[in-house]
Amino acid sequence: MNGNVKQDVIMSVALHSKLEFGSTTSFRWDADLVPKAESQTHFHLLSIINTEIQRRGPLSGERLRLLDVGCGDGKLLIYLSVALQACWPSLKFDLYGFDVGDHGLQAPSFFKDALARLEAAAPGGKWRERLALISEHDPWPYEADFFDIVVSNQVLEHVRDQPLFFSELGRVLNAKGFSAHLYPSRHCVVEPHLQVPFAHRLRDADLLDAWLRLCSRMRLSSYPGWAQARRSITPSLNHSLETYVREHSTFLTHLTNYKTQRETHSLAKASGQTSSFCYTGRYFSGKLASILGRERAPFYADNPAMSAALANLVCRYLSSVTLLTRGDPERKPGAMPVSTVRARSLLSLLA
Ligand SMILES: C[S@@+](CC[C@H](N)C(=O)[O-])C[C@H]1O[C@@H](n2cnc3c(N)ncnc32)[C@H](O)[C@@H]1O
Repeated sequence: MNGNVKQDVIMSVALHSKLEFGSTTSFRWDADLVPKAESQTHFHLLSIINTEIQRRGPLSGERLRLLDVGCGDGKLLIYLSVALQACWPSLKFDLYGFDVGDHGLQAPSFFKDALARLEAAAPGGKWRERLALISEHDPWPYEADFFDIVVSNQVLEHVRDQPLFFSELGRVLNAKGFSAHLYPSRHCVVEPHLQVPFAHRLRDADLLDAWLRLCSRMRLSSYPGWAQARRSITPSLNHSLETYVREHSTFLTHLTNYKTQRETHSLAKASGQTSSFCYTGRYFSGKLASILGRERAPFYADNPAMSAALANLVCRYLSSVTLLTRGDPERKPGAMPVSTVRARSLLSLLA
């Protein structure tokens, strides 16, 4: 890594701890010890976690529990298990993950594969105890206030019961904890899975089908790539535009649930958390830096609230946003019952 950047990171961390937290900082950045992130989303989440841990003032020897919700193939957990330990040698991290088996997005064997991948790539993680497969209707399988950190990557836009998601998030996160979620919101102009503009905003099934057909004919969709990939795997099957439209409108209708930022704020608030999208712009500046081949440190220096808000206002139309929530120490411990949260969020959505 560029020596100046490295120095900046160390200085910035030292400054933070001196001004705000006393003397107990232990953040280290040695690019040789941290595996290269497979995706920009993993690096962005690592940067947020580092920044927020520093903000809370970590104590040497402290043990932090992290949960990856909707952990999918387990690759984010593998990355974080190595990267966090390298960045914070005097802290201990216990990583957990869970996913749901009845949502319909993942292939039947995905969980078994994720477990095998984690055991091979990050042995010693006690993954058999710490990875769980549940139903999307179940409460999360952890005690209240169990976690210091909760993350999710490209999950929230698929969650059907979002009041349950947020009430469980508020329940398992302890009073000093935080959560970070990277996902595309309803504001996004182009639906990111199909690459069709506004497709996720159309609620009427016939209108959606007609729109997918029209955009595909204008080559404004993933149809050409989809048909080519399908033909190479199963040449005998039907890969017509109609098949594409049918499959993808079903996907959008049943497997996605896009919310506006205002709706998300209401859900977080109803479950006793404060929420903000202050890191949204950082994801885009990171993407830009990696396109330009610039090396970056996994730590975000302070950003004035106004410029963070402006960046979010622009970037939310382009691709994923980053939601940050924090527990409310006044309300903890003892989360609100799920039924109360659901009733409140329903009322706030109708209002
Ligand atoms: C696009 S995948 C992302 C997987 C993984 N986070 C990644 O980055 O590769 C979306 C994931 O969300 C999970 N999911 C859907 N509804 C969920 C819910 N209510 N709670 C937790 N995970 C959920 C799906 O099973 C799926 O694994």
